[in-house]
Amino acid sequence: MKIIETIAELKSLRPKLAEPVGFVPTMGYLHQGHLALVRQARAENPSVVVSIFVNPTQFGPHEDFKQYPHDPQRDLALLEKEKVDIVFMPPADEMYPPKFNSWVEVGKVAERLEGAARPGHFRGVTTVVAKLFNIVQPDRAYFGQKDAQQLIVIRKMVADLDMSLEVVAVPTVREPDGLAMSSRNTYLNPEERKAALVLYQALTLAQKLWSQGEKDAKVIRQQMTDLIQKQPLAEIDYISIADAETLDELDRVKPPALVSMAVRIGKTRLIDNVVLNSENKDY
Ligand code: PAF
Repeated sequence: MKIIETIAELKSLRPKLAEPVGFVPTMGYLHQGHLALVRQARAENPSVVVSIFVNPTQFGPHEDFKQYPHDPQRDLALLEKEKVDIVFMPPADEMYPPKFNSWVEVGKVAERLEGAARPGHFRGVTTVVAKLFNIVQPDRAYFGQKDAQQLIVIRKMVADLDMSLEVVAVPTVREPDGLAMSSRNTYLNPEERKAALVLYQALTLAQKLWSQGEKDAKVIRQQMTDLIQKQPLAEIDYISIADAETLDELDRVKPPALVSMAVRIGKTRLIDNVVLNSENKDY
């Protein structure tokens, strides 16, 4: 496994990689959710590149950029075991030199939900992902369904800007009790960790109501809200039931519909989602 820190070195190695090249962009502090992306990339491509870069431009001024967890030695050991070919770990000024001033913005689907709650977040994500795509030149890039809106935004960028790669969605990996894997779960104390289960319980309730024939989004949202509000440590940021492609909010649930939420458990903001479709599976 080669560890590369500069764009020039990666660009000079890229033509030597067997194609197709699978790419997994990450911010490190890897968990089973990331490893599921890496394993799928490994199974589907003769070459696999993983990036580890905590992207400063996708964090707001009062967000957790400075405290974002990191453990590069552990990450590298995990990636070595998965037989990754190249790990790209650029320092911040390699990706953003002093005069950097070009941005990628995707519009409407990036302005809602996480985009509304975290202004500038998706501009940072799409800019860094576009740069990484240009540097790595992948044939396939792997993203988790856990960050459903990120996936939708990146798909839109790839389509609108005619980028020549396939975006592959990988189902959310959950802890045995249902909590979606996230690097931010490490911020939770034991009491908050228990309380965090309420996100999955609310999503399961939405799936149950939908499979019993409930089509009124307001009824589903209200029952989810009531359930979450019973948990004293939880504070709802948003609950959305939206078209899974446009993110337009729905009055009547029409599949595929994305049920997504952001909930604060103590100081930690967690997001999770499910897709309501005819089979009630992630897409
Ligand atoms: O999902 C993430 O970890 C990040 O948003 C990404 C895609 C690596 C861009 O920084």
